[in-house]
Amino acid sequence: MRRIYLDHAATTAVSAEVLKTMKPYFRKHFGNPSEPHQWGRESKVAIEQAREKAAVFLGAKTSEILFTSGATEAINLAHKGLVEVSYKEDSDKIPHIITSSIEHKAVIETCKHLERLKLAKITYLPVDKNGLVKTNDIKKVVKPETLLVSVMYVNNEMGAIQPIKEISKLIKKINLARFNSHLPPIYFHTDATQAIQYLDCRVAELGVDLLSLSGHKFYAPKGVGLLYFKKGISLIRQQDGGEQENHLRAGTENIPYIVGLGKALELITEDRQQTLRKINNLKEKLISGVLKIPEVKLVGGTEKKAPHIVSFLVKGVEGEAMMLLLSEKGIAASSGSACTSGLLEPSHVLLAMGYRPEEAHGSLRFSLGKDNTKEEIDDVIEALPRIIEKLRKMAPKL
Ligand SMILES: Cc1ncc(COP(=O)(O)O)c(C=O)c1O
Repeated sequence: MRRIYLDHAATTAVSAEVLKTMKPYFRKHFGNPSEPHQWGRESKVAIEQAREKAAVFLGAKTSEILFTSGATEAINLAHKGLVEVSYKEDSDKIPHIITSSIEHKAVIETCKHLERLKLAKITYLPVDKNGLVKTNDIKKVVKPETLLVSVMYVNNEMGAIQPIKEISKLIKKINLARFNSHLPPIYFHTDATQAIQYLDCRVAELGVDLLSLSGHKFYAPKGVGLLYFKKGISLIRQQDGGEQENHLRAGTENIPYIVGLGKALELITEDRQQTLRKINNLKEKLISGVLKIPEVKLVGGTEKKAPHIVSFLVKGVEGEAMMLLLSEKGIAASSGSACTSGLLEPSHVLLAMGYRPEEAHGSLRFSLGKDNTKEEIDDVIEALPRIIEKLRKMAPKL
């Protein structure tokens, strides 16, 4: 049976070129980079070369790049690390974080953790029907204790691109006024995990102070990512032990994976325009084909959307059931985010966009990758109506 993978927002396969670059670091150059001998030095050089590639990709300095096990860890470190730095035992004012109601769980659960421990107060910004944060809403909720604004760049469930540049401009303006009133600056973090492959992620253009990403969303392995944090920002490390990563992340570095991450970032730059054109065409084809099915709608329109993610709501059918029947036909899709699959709770993202729980249950996400073809999209467009029809016939009549 032909296998069609349309779940690239969940993860991607390691590309052949990335794998080739990683291979020597499993057996040939396996030294511990903390050791000063030749073996250790080879590994150290490899890490620093990957850091250089990441810095070039983000338009950052190498000292501003910290390798982690993925976006989740980078996000935890950014939020908890900043809160801990500003923690004062004798103060009754705890830091305030502004985030959006449609963030990935890595951000939402980190914020909830800080809230539970009474280490921070959190404001969750609403989104409009297209899943977009309104920049002006931030102005309304900023307080003297606001320490951090954390808004994702691209939403993983329906692809909305948030107005990151606009938000950073607003924060800069607010920070200017705060400086004159002797208040500390507000930092701006973005979870760029779903944006890296296709959008401009140069930190100076975006105006962000911190940025998180995960390698396995762009053809590097799972288990490696990074945090960009602007020069001058202090963080308290969240993993104690040795002095690795400039004392900010203890534990022997995962050299092959870090090398793979650097290579994958380099490849994005080489391939981006060509891949973008291809993916945009495939997405348009998929949307027009799927929308021909009765009572199916697109989540949040087509404006300000990442090229690789498209999400539909199918009336009267469970997303999980569609996903399973598609899988039987050799097609990988997702219902909401992969992290919430398995729990039959409606997606917090769709609820925040104003969809009713019964509508949200019918969510189906396709996410495209660089190797998908026109023929694969044709197959999906052919298979999906029959699956939906079958499930609708099976659904209990109320
Ligand atoms: C937007 C977003 N942020 C964070 C993450 C977490 O990435 P990881 O599980 O690799 O740490 C994901 C993964 O699905 C994501 O899509």
